[in-house]
This record gives sequence, C-alpha cells and structure tokens, in this order.
Amino acid sequence: MGDYEEIFSASVSDRERFWLDAAGALDWHRAPAKALDDSRPPFYRWFPDGELNVCHNALDRHVEAGRGDQAALVYDSPVTGAKSVHSYRRLRDEVAVFAGVLRDLGVGTGDRVVIYMPMVPEAAVAMLACARLGAVHSVVFGGFAARELAVRIDDAAPTVVVSASCGIEGSRVIEYKPLLDAAVGMASHKPLKNVILQRPQARAELGERDVDWASACAAASPAAPVPVQSTDPLYVLYTSGTTGKPKGVVRDSGGYATALTWSMSNVYDVGPGQTLFTASDVGWVVGHSYIVYAPLLAGATSVLYEGKPVGTPDAGQFWRVASEYGVRSMFTAPTAFRALKKEDPEGTHARGYDLSALKYLFLAGERLDPETYRWASELLGIPVIDHWWQTETGWPIVANPAGIELLPVKPGSPTRPLPGWDIQVLDGDGKPVPPGTNGAIVAKLPMPPGALPTLWNDDERFLSSYMSAFEGYYLTGDGGYLDEDGYLYVMGRTDDVINVAGHRLSTGGMEEVLASHPDVAECAVIGVADQLKGQVPRGFVVLKSGVDAAADGYTSRLRAELVQLVRDQVGAVASLKDVAVVAALPKTRSGKILRKAMRNIAEGTEEPVPSTIEDASVLDALRPALRKE
Ligand code: COA
Ligand code: AMP
Repeated sequence: MGDYEEIFSASVSDRERFWLDAAGALDWHRAPAKALDDSRPPFYRWFPDGELNVCHNALDRHVEAGRGDQAALVYDSPVTGAKSVHSYRRLRDEVAVFAGVLRDLGVGTGDRVVIYMPMVPEAAVAMLACARLGAVHSVVFGGFAARELAVRIDDAAPTVVVSASCGIEGSRVIEYKPLLDAAVGMASHKPLKNVILQRPQARAELGERDVDWASACAAASPAAPVPVQSTDPLYVLYTSGTTGKPKGVVRDSGGYATALTWSMSNVYDVGPGQTLFTASDVGWVVGHSYIVYAPLLAGATSVLYEGKPVGTPDAGQFWRVASEYGVRSMFTAPTAFRALKKEDPEGTHARGYDLSALKYLFLAGERLDPETYRWASELLGIPVIDHWWQTETGWPIVANPAGIELLPVKPGSPTRPLPGWDIQVLDGDGKPVPPGTNGAIVAKLPMPPGALPTLWNDDERFLSSYMSAFEGYYLTGDGGYLDEDGYLYVMGRTDDVINVAGHRLSTGGMEEVLASHPDVAECAVIGVADQLKGQVPRGFVVLKSGVDAAADGYTSRLRAELVQLVRDQVGAVASLKDVAVVAALPKTRSGKILRKAMRNIAEGTEEPVPSTIEDASVLDALRPALRKE
C-alpha cells in the first residue's frame, strides 16, 4: 500500500483521531478534547471545545519560536515598481497595531469588517488584524463594481470598511474610493468608519466617515490576540450562486487552521522557511487560503504579487518572481498559463531565470485542459498538479498529494480525493453511478475540517443550496465522473455558475442586470468555452413589444448599453462583451429557459434537444446567433 492509501485509510478508519492529530500542529489556548460535534447534522462543527487565535498561530507563534527575522510576506509589484519584505516580526507588529486601530474604531469580537483592497501587503495586514481581534473579515474582490460591494455590505453589516485609494490594473489606475462611496451610498447598512490606505498613484478625498490608514496606525497601540472558540467565524467570503444574491460562505477558525496547516506539508509540500507563490487575488478563496493563511500558519514565506501573468510588463514576470524569491511551489489558475502560452509559446521568457528551486506547479480554479497541462509540464519539467476545490471547501478536495507521494497523473483529472473527503458521483435519484458515467459530484457528510459550516445568517439557504438535493451529501455543483481507479474527472458546473479566467461568476446575476434595461423583455446569459479564459459569458435578449429595433443604429447602441450596464453593476471582471438581440428564447413547457441546449449549440457539441422543449423551432431559429454564423 502506498503512503497515500495508508494516510487516506487512516482518515477513514479513525476520522476523529486523524484530525485531532492534525490539530496538534497548532497552538491552542484550550486544546480540543473532541474532534467533531455531529449532534445536529448537517450542521457539523469541528473541535467544538477548542479555543485558539488564528492570527497568533500565523504570526506570534513563529516569532516566539525564533522565526522573527524570517520573511513572512514578500510583496512584489511590477505595476508600481514596489517590492518589500515583511519578516514575521514586522508583520506581527504591523498587524497588532492595525488591530489596535480597528479596536479603537469599535471593532470587537464577532463584529464584521469588509475589506475592499488591491493586492498590497496592507490587505493581508487588515485580514490578520481582524483575526487577531476575533472579528470577522469579509474581503470583496477589487474587480467588483459598487453595487456588488453594496450587496455584501448590506449582508455582512460591517462596523468598519477597510479600503485603499486605488488599485492598479495593468497600466490603469482604478480609483477605489468613488466605488466605495457609491456602495456605501447604495447600501442600507452604513459602516461607522472607513479606513483608507492612501497610495501614491492616486490620493483619495477623505470625508467625515473616513480615517487615514497611516495616521490611525501612528496613533494606535498594539492589540493582543483574543482567543476565540474554534467554531467561531474567521471570515465570510461571498461567492456566486445561481441568483444575483451572492452566498456568504462562513469559515470557522480551528477547523480551517487545522486543514490549511495539514495541506501545506501534505499537498503543497511547503514547510517552514520555504516559499509559496500563489498568483491569485486576496479577494478569492485561493488568496485567502494560499496567499495569506496557509503559508503563514506553516511558518513559510508567501509571495503577494500585484500584477498579471502577461503585460505587466511581459510574460517573464512569474519566472522572475520564482527565481528571485526561491519559490518552491507555485499556484495559479490554468487561464494564467493559457495567457503565457499565447504570449510566449516557446517559453523564451523563462529561459534567463534560475528556476532550480521550483519543484511544483499547482493549478486550480477551473478545469485544466490537457493541452495546457502538457505545455506547462514541458516548459517547466516539474510536476504540474491539477487540483479541484471551491470557495465552500476552503482547501483542496481532490489533488495529487505532493507532500505524501505523487500519484501517476492522468491528464484531465486532478487525481484522487484527499484524506477526509468521501467523494461520490450520483445520478438524479441519488444512486451511485458506475465508473466512467457522468453524474453529480457530491461529498458524503461530514466533510473534513475547513469546509463551510453554513452560510452567513442563512442556514436555510445552506440547506437548500447544498444539503437537500441528496440527504447526507454535500452537493458540489460540479458534474463529472470517477474512473475505475478512483480518479475524478470534473467536467463543469451543473448550475448557472460560470468560471471566467478563474473568476467564479453567476449568469443569473448578469441576467438580472440585463433584465433591468427598460427595452428588455427577457434574457439569458450562458457561459461558452473560450480559448483563453476557459469560459466567457454571452447574453441573449428579447425586446419588449413596441421597441423599434429597426431604428437606425438601435441594435448596436443597445448592445453597448447592455455591456456597459453589466460592467457598471457587476464589474469589468464579468467580461460580458457579447450580447445578441433575438426574437425568442427556447423554453421548456414549464417556462424554464433551455440554457444548456443553447450552450451546446454555441460550443458546437450537438446533443439531443430535451424532449421537454415547448417549441423546437425557437431553438432552430436561434442557431445562427448562437453559432455566430
Ligand atoms: N480591479 C479592477 N478591475 C479588474 C480587476 C481588479 N482587481 N481584476 C480584473 N479586472 C478587470 C480587468 O482589467 C479587465 O478589464 P477590461 O475588460 O477593461 O480589460 C476585466 O476585469 C477582466 O479581467 P480578466 O478576466 O482578469 O482579464 P484580463 O484580460 O485582464 O486578464 C488573465 C486575463 C488570464 C491574464 C487574468 O485573468 C489572470 O491573470 N488570471 C489569473 C487567474 C486568477 O487570478 N484567478 C483567480 C482565482 S485562482
Ligand atoms: P471557486 O469557488 O471560485 O474556487 O470556484 C470553484 C469552482 O471552480 C468549482 O466548483 C469548479 O467548477 C471550478 N474548479 C475549481 N478547480 C477546478 C479544477 N481543478 N478542475 C475543474 N474545475 C475546477
């Protein structure tokens, strides 16, 4: 039996012992005696009697153990030319002071703080400062527009919002303060204060509600870590569901810290003093887990990179960063590698750099297509590890566990489930399907530590979204199959969620925006395959009767308005660039729009049209628009 099999079976035969042992890697204020509270399924709670502080575990603990001078956070920003290194001591001290700022502004244990920040070290400082106080942060990705921020502010009801004067997108300076002001204006909930980090690229006008980051830090005294229950929330991270209202995924403290710490050595093979470079954004779960918390919990060095894989200024930046900081494991989304491949197919930019420290490339966030897998493997000559997970799970579900043993790779599959995950594929009746047959990918409950215990203030939605389709199982929302060797193949979402350049977006949310246009009677947004971004959204609108679509220039004007509307209301990151005006949308007899059938035609994978279609001629008439003929 290989090491993987052995460790996996230990996690099954005595689950509680397995995770209590893993929890032993942390400093507990009160060590847990019990691993799992399973008294109220499906609301499972890990380490119910444990108490700890996650920030203490990420910072103070390492300083006390003699790692104070080691690099904790390296900031590298080709878009501004800035670089800095925070040692563990410096990071602890800055976090303690910023926690003092938040405390003085009235933030206490359990209070929420919304963080709307670009990729600067202060974003991590703000997150860790919340953790230090036992406050709950909710980071909102900088690419979301004011309305999305407002929805999150209303749901999380933060005491304070932390933001910056601007972010940098390639060569563009994006001012954040006007977006924040607009969001606070729109939201019914008003935070007491906004703390604003002034960046030299654009200075924000500060108003009555605003506090300047630097002056507040100069006036504050450091705050000590506050122990919290293991089951207390560390953060809420909103993610796209099927409607325009995002889901507030709750993350607990002790379970998450345990799972992340375990994953650093066993999955990513990065230990204390070694370097992990995760090219993502702190606004996504990948950034929460593998830019901020996991590397710091493990006493490793994390690289926070403010730039893109290409164009900032060239396709050599990942390799420069990897060689400059001796990166051992690198993690990004496949789309970043497709962008590199497009820009630099021969990989010439990698040649001048010493990449001898780089041992693994991890990719997640969307399906890793075999072509990109091959290109990256040949370019780097190291294991390229596809792994599958979600905002909801907080850490990988299926991955080649590099720190345990490397399993043989089958391109197109992230390999096999990690310890703690009982992954099955079910048919519509909840029966397991034979190997090789597609179905709904589910996780048998209870899930291991780290996975979401519920949705913020919404147990009902937690139950209806994830727990009610198949009793005793968590519905991942992904479809796919297991093969005879237990390898999982994730083929795509089974709901209205799409993945655009590794960014998770809701087509339902975009439809709500299109439908708000006064000329639109009904609409559909579908995600279609895209060479670079994996998927891109395409919109189809039916006009209200009486609208004069034949008027000169009307259609192109309407399309431009709709594209702009989604950009303004969801954000540029939605990447909706293509909207077609059509006569009708294909529906089932019960009135449900047949988005999947539309997608099949758009992607050229002709599959039988569902027999429930009300009028097949509508779909036929739509063919040229779908195929762009
Ligand atoms: N703030 C403001 N705007 C943002 C933003 C942010 N934080 N992030 C993205 N945007 C904007 C982009 O500037 C772009 O605007 P445009 O339409 O005016 O050009 C738009 O949102 C779409 O962004 P994106 O889909 O990222 O496309 P891109 O062309 O800028 O870059 C890649 C394409 C592949 C290079 C880029 O998506 C990438 O590096 N992805 C890496 C994967 C990743 O980070 N995934 C996250 C989860 S692991
Ligand atoms: P997010 O919650 O933003 O991390 O997005 C999670 C979704 O991204 C999953 O439900 C999948 O649809 C997709 N995804 C993530 N990783 C992979 C992967 N390795 N292979 C296929 N799909 C993936």
